[in-house]
Amino acid sequence: MKIAITVMLLFPLLQTDNDVSAQDTSVASERYEERADHDPNGIGKFYMGREIAHVMGYLGAPWLERDTREEEERLTLLVKSLKLKPGDIVADIGAGSGVISVLMAEQVLPNGYVIGVDVQDEMLLRLQDNARQKGVTNIVPIKGSQKAPSLAPRSIDLAIMVDVYHEFEFPYEMMMEISKAMKPGGRIVLVEYRMEDPTVPIKLVHKMSQKQAKAEVEQTGFNMEWTETIDVLPRQHILVFTKQNEPNSAP
Ligand SMILES: C[S@@+](CC[C@H](N)C(=O)[O-])C[C@H]1O[C@@H](n2cnc3c(N)ncnc32)[C@H](O)[C@@H]1O
Repeated sequence: MKIAITVMLLFPLLQTDNDVSAQDTSVASERYEERADHDPNGIGKFYMGREIAHVMGYLGAPWLERDTREEEERLTLLVKSLKLKPGDIVADIGAGSGVISVLMAEQVLPNGYVIGVDVQDEMLLRLQDNARQKGVTNIVPIKGSQKAPSLAPRSIDLAIMVDVYHEFEFPYEMMMEISKAMKPGGRIVLVEYRMEDPTVPIKLVHKMSQKQAKAEVEQTGFNMEWTETIDVLPRQHILVFTKQNEPNSAP
């Protein structure tokens, strides 16, 4: 009930018409390359030399919620390292069943909230159930599309993607929309399994190197600059990018 009320209150903040699918289709088709010879765990579509992974289906939710995840991925430490503040507006993009959303929601109380974005209704329903069971009332579930997360311009303090970015089917379009949704000085955080470390036990298309992630996010037009990599997790990079002032805007 409280979630429903929050959604209604937030309605003016949410953008409904920000899908970029109609824009610039010829450039978009050059941006991606289809290859017949590819990793079976990927979709055969390449972006800046990297193969995009399959989206994890909602049947994978129990794996996201597994008991051993805290030990393997140190989620509590991850959230602590973000240094969230009371009142922050956080977008958990590719929130899945809400494991990270729930941990972050407590950190932004009393006035802040987490927008949990996902493309799968089943994940969003599970996220709401999990939040309800834990008594968390400051998470707003939002259905996104493959190309846009449906967030209002300049509304977000921190947007985080945990084990998500490598499976975006349209990473360029998603990053363009996410960067528009950031407040000036807002942070985009990618949490990705370390490609540089062959001992990390995850399939290759689910890993990313720092070099690749920086090249993809620091593109002209996104206005995002890499500011730090927080190296505290056993398996993943925490890459932090900060929204720069718009060209021609006051400092
Ligand atoms: C591996 S799961 C990670 C879930 C969650 N971040 C976690 O760590 O528990 C990836 C999630 O990203 C979602 N996803 C994939 N592409 C997306 C997109 N373009 N926009 C929003 N969510 C997306 C999938 O539906 C899936 O729930």
